[in-house]
Amino acid sequence: IPLSEINLSDIAFWERPMAEREAAFAVLRAQPGPIRFAEPEISFAPPGPGYHALVRHADIVEASRNPEVFCSGRSATSVQDLPVEFNEYFGSMINMDDPRHARLRRIVSRAFTPKMIKQFEADVQAEATRIVDDLIAGGPGGDFVTEVAARLPLKIICDMMGIPEEHYQTVFDASNVILSGGDPEFIEDLSKAAELLLGAGQRLQDLVTSLAGSRDLADDALIATLTRANIDGEKLTMQELGSFFILLVVAGNETTRNAISHGLHLFTENPDQRALLLSDFDGRVGGAVEEIVRLASPVTWMRRTVTRDHEMNGTLYREGDKVLLFYWSANRDEDVFTDPCRFDILRTEGPHVGFGGPGPHFCLGAHLARREIAVMFRELFTRLPQIRSAGEPDRLRSSFINGIKHLTCEF
Ligand code: HEM
Repeated sequence: IPLSEINLSDIAFWERPMAEREAAFAVLRAQPGPIRFAEPEISFAPPGPGYHALVRHADIVEASRNPEVFCSGRSATSVQDLPVEFNEYFGSMINMDDPRHARLRRIVSRAFTPKMIKQFEADVQAEATRIVDDLIAGGPGGDFVTEVAARLPLKIICDMMGIPEEHYQTVFDASNVILSGGDPEFIEDLSKAAELLLGAGQRLQDLVTSLAGSRDLADDALIATLTRANIDGEKLTMQELGSFFILLVVAGNETTRNAISHGLHLFTENPDQRALLLSDFDGRVGGAVEEIVRLASPVTWMRRTVTRDHEMNGTLYREGDKVLLFYWSANRDEDVFTDPCRFDILRTEGPHVGFGGPGPHFCLGAHLARREIAVMFRELFTRLPQIRSAGEPDRLRSSFINGIKHLTCEF
């Protein structure tokens, strides 16, 4: 693929077959410095000056380690600077810098430590068992995404937050719209994208407002933690509470869902790796989970904005420049990973950057996601060792989220 034909801002690029995208990123990584792209056009935000695509592992690690220069404050989750009304729902800590970011993160970080996640292990296991029970009852196949992959992370994050089951569908539907990237299954008419995104934000904001005021809310629910929290004597505002809630429920369910779906597809295409895992499940599952997250890279990129002129690995970045950190590409960097596009659960190189680079925004939910993926595959492969995906995944039309909307499975 010639460099002149690669345009990461063109959604058609992301619809190309995997092998072509892998070849294109190899071309980008072989360039002497990051390539600059024009910004994608969206109806509700003016196009900015373009961005540098960081595609090499070393660049992404270094930029992540230097948040004073490569900041998140002007938005980490969108290429464009979004209109202010978006802050109401999406102006959470992922789009902030320290010290405010660190103070907000500290409010909930304890709930996501390995020790706390261990306390959830029985719940994760019980839900995984229920999911496979239902799958078998409805067998001999189904839509793996909606019947399996989506259910576990949705249930667990809702339990942690204190969201009762009758609201799961609201959370699921709103997350799909928020992370749709404009996919027509969730946003039929792109000219209404802003309205639909803000509407989804408002529904989640209404939900947290009603739950925060409910007498049934458990003391240890994260909504209660957020409601009680205060920073330097000040409570979170309703806007802060709402956007924090939205960040946690959206980040907590969609990414892990996609990792589980990609995982089944990877094991289907690589039966030798499934056999390796099954012959020593407990010894190998940790490596398998990392390898799934590496190759899936459910979050394709995050944005940073340059705060002052700065040279890094031979390239001069100017104040105000936007950079996108393409984790999906760094995770296939031939300078770090041998035979990088191969699924190899015994791989020891890395670390990959599927959960982000080393820095203050490293995924808060990484331990939780790892446990969910491991438990789900243990339950699936113990009870249905032959389960496989059938046909190609129906992929989300997005450059930001490497999503799978539907995936037929049989067993
Ligand atoms: C941040 C990926 C699961 C919550 C991030 C970032 C990535 C990521 C790449 C970095 C953002 C940045 O540097 O700007 C993933 C993947 C997951 C996953 C691939 C699953 C396989 C989860 C789960 C939760 C979660 C289960 C649970 C709530 C968060 C939060 C942040 C974050 C709150 C923002 C952290 C901050 O700004 O300090 N995630 N994530 N993630 N993730 Fe995850």
